[in-house]
Amino acid sequence: MNHIKLNNGVTIPQLGLGTFRAKEKEAYEAVLHALKQGYRHIDTASIYGNEEEVGQAIKDAGIPREEIFVTTKLFNSDQGYLSAKKAFMKSLDRLDLEYVDLYLIHWPQTYELSADSWQALEELYLDGYTRAIGVSNFNFHHLEHLFETAEIIPQVNQIESHVYLQNHKLQEFCMKNGIYLEAYAPLASHEIKKLLENETMQKIADKHGKTVPQVAIRYHLERDIIVIPKSVTPKRIDENFDVFDFELSEEETQEINKLNRGRKFFPDPDNI
Ligand SMILES: NC(=O)c1ccc[n+]([C@@H]2O[C@H](COP(=O)([O-])OP(=O)(O)OC[C@H]3O[C@@H](n4cnc5c(N)ncnc54)[C@H](OP(=O)(O)O)[C@@H]3O)[C@@H](O)[C@H]2O)c1
Repeated sequence: MNHIKLNNGVTIPQLGLGTFRAKEKEAYEAVLHALKQGYRHIDTASIYGNEEEVGQAIKDAGIPREEIFVTTKLFNSDQGYLSAKKAFMKSLDRLDLEYVDLYLIHWPQTYELSADSWQALEELYLDGYTRAIGVSNFNFHHLEHLFETAEIIPQVNQIESHVYLQNHKLQEFCMKNGIYLEAYAPLASHEIKKLLENETMQKIADKHGKTVPQVAIRYHLERDIIVIPKSVTPKRIDENFDVFDFELSEEETQEINKLNRGRKFFPDPDNI
């Protein structure tokens, strides 16, 4: 497993398990299976409604807490200084953990509201409730405004990222500011069929004796992006983790770069 060192020195396993749309028992079983297979990084959010099951699976896996990296997120309706702190405590309670590893603002709201929420996150971080803090779905202008009042630069920006939406410029901007990108929907999420049917991806996958999802995950890893593919299917959870025994050639990377269409499958952060 590759690890990335964030701007505060905390390390994060570069590949984790996503849990969006994984409900209750499904989420519990997926997380338990993933942890048993070697995953050490789990991504959830208060809005996913599965924090309790994620927390229970972490407990039942019997792995020391400090070996697992847990992310959760502050939802839009909870943004604001006091409400963010309250929402965080509720998440912690549902997860039944003493701390999380990364707490993210899920979506940008008004600049003022995001700034107030960020102040709460900074304090939660300084008080030791979360080992890292970050944002999600933040574009250039959201980050620039955040920088005006922030005392701590986010460690991570989790954004929609797949071969059809590659975010090269945003990555350059974030890396210049010490912020790692984390790719959500790396398999194109509900549009995964488009990815699975992509001929370029299939050709590259065949060449390596790998699958298209494995190539898509590998592409992100090689770009130094943290990546959190979701699956509740044991065989796919295993498949998505089996990506450390091959490398894309420069030519293959260039071919994948050409698939970029700036195509979003999730809402535009400017219109949420
Ligand atoms: N910050 C945000 O706003 C935000 C937004 C969206 C997602 N996220 C996070 O990012 C994670 C990943 O994004 P996502 O869940 O939207 O999409 P994704 O990981 O790109 O794709 C998930 C879909 O692909 C299927 N799948 C997974 N591995 C497969 C494989 N090897 N072969 C064939 N199909 C496969 C899954 O099916 P099964 O589960 O049925 O196997 C599911 O339908 C989320 O779970 C969540 O933790 C964050």
